[in-house]
Amino acid sequence: MTVNVPKDKTIDNTLAIFKDGYNFIPKRVQNHHLDVYETRVLGEKVALLSGIEGAKLFYDTTRMNRKNALPKRVLKTLFGENGIQTMDGEAHKHRKLLFMSLMTPEALQELYEITTKYWAHFTKKWSKMKKVTLYDESRELLCRTACEWAGVPLKEKEVQKRTRDLSNMIDGFSAIGPKHMESRRARKRTEAWIEELILKVREGELEAEKGKAIYEMAMHKDLDGRPLDARMAAIELINIIRPLVAISKFITFGAVALQEYPETNTRVSLDDEYLFMFSQEVRRFYPFVPFLGARVDHDFTWQQYNFEKDQLVLIDVYGINHDPKVWENPDEFNPERFVDWDGGLFDLIPQGGGGYYSGHRCPGEWPTIEVLQASFRYMTKHLDYDVPKQDYSYSLRKMPSLPKSGFIMSNVHYKN
Ligand code: HEM
Repeated sequence: MTVNVPKDKTIDNTLAIFKDGYNFIPKRVQNHHLDVYETRVLGEKVALLSGIEGAKLFYDTTRMNRKNALPKRVLKTLFGENGIQTMDGEAHKHRKLLFMSLMTPEALQELYEITTKYWAHFTKKWSKMKKVTLYDESRELLCRTACEWAGVPLKEKEVQKRTRDLSNMIDGFSAIGPKHMESRRARKRTEAWIEELILKVREGELEAEKGKAIYEMAMHKDLDGRPLDARMAAIELINIIRPLVAISKFITFGAVALQEYPETNTRVSLDDEYLFMFSQEVRRFYPFVPFLGARVDHDFTWQQYNFEKDQLVLIDVYGINHDPKVWENPDEFNPERFVDWDGGLFDLIPQGGGGYYSGHRCPGEWPTIEVLQASFRYMTKHLDYDVPKQDYSYSLRKMPSLPKSGFIMSNVHYKN
């Protein structure tokens, strides 16, 4: 039997990415019989993948690689050039071990405690403020948390500048014009700052504790036995602190969830298992990463579609988290769906799928869950606040998305 692989009829669909946003891939793939769909983006023939089978293929490193999978504009802002995101094979595995070695149970516990400490500090500050925009404040809270956890010294007078630069790197990669250019400058400034610290650690001018990210990045040796170039070590250390600041988006979405689903609050404040499920549901339900890219390693046929060597492939991250074939009532916010969840490697993929060691799945997934649990527990147990009238809706067209108001709170107080 011949099966026709569905494709877009138009010559190019680059503009449709901006029009359809997070629904660009789901809209195309999920209404068809296969998990693959062909389109054209920026003049290239692109295979869109969705569904669990699509995710399995995307994370099959014998068939997909990451060389040239990311546009220059993303490398010059969000990720940095030649970092772990662009590596393959043994070199990638070796670099990944470095990241994974930082995620010990003790380090994760410490991250929970540091996060809670800063929530307490910020609560004191917020109780004197008329109005608090959670998104803005949580970015600074997390910049302090991230630097302390990673062993990066942060002078009081530079906190705001560093927070702004780390956030601009995240938000500017998809922007055009001045916002994008500012994002590039933010990366340059941040790399120069962190590179200087790496050199100081190497020269013994800055004390760093073994096990802390700054120490491990500074001392790491590549497969050839040589230390990383200082700029490369800086790029990888930024790959720890930048995404920790990005968790502010999930915190802001979580605050909206606590407001929109008030029945969740008591259990989040008291029940550890529920707190975990609530954090997982925030990561599944709300839009963050829309899709990810890889390149085809060699010609092969899958689900009757002929993949061609070096062809760009995009996996439907947001769509799989909302796929009705995977999740019951996917558009309902329901933490309890995780009671029976089997911990699949290819269904809950807000931070990528597959194995941590074998592929590119985010090594910061457990730190993210730790920070979210510390934050939601603190908010429900120790924070009293009013939510003035505002628009905290979010758009599925704007990528990355965020509640419009940034979540405004007033009358913030500590509660025992
Ligand atoms: C990779 C998302 C937090 C470090 C990734 C990937 C995604 C992602 C989608 C790519 C997976 C792939 O290419 O297949 C997120 C989101 C976060 C988050 C949404 C929370 C807001 C973190 C944190 C850290 C981190 C807290 C570090 C502490 C990394 C690194 C990679 C990565 C180093 C590259 C892994 C590799 O290429 O092997 N993340 N992440 N991320 N993430 Fe995260």
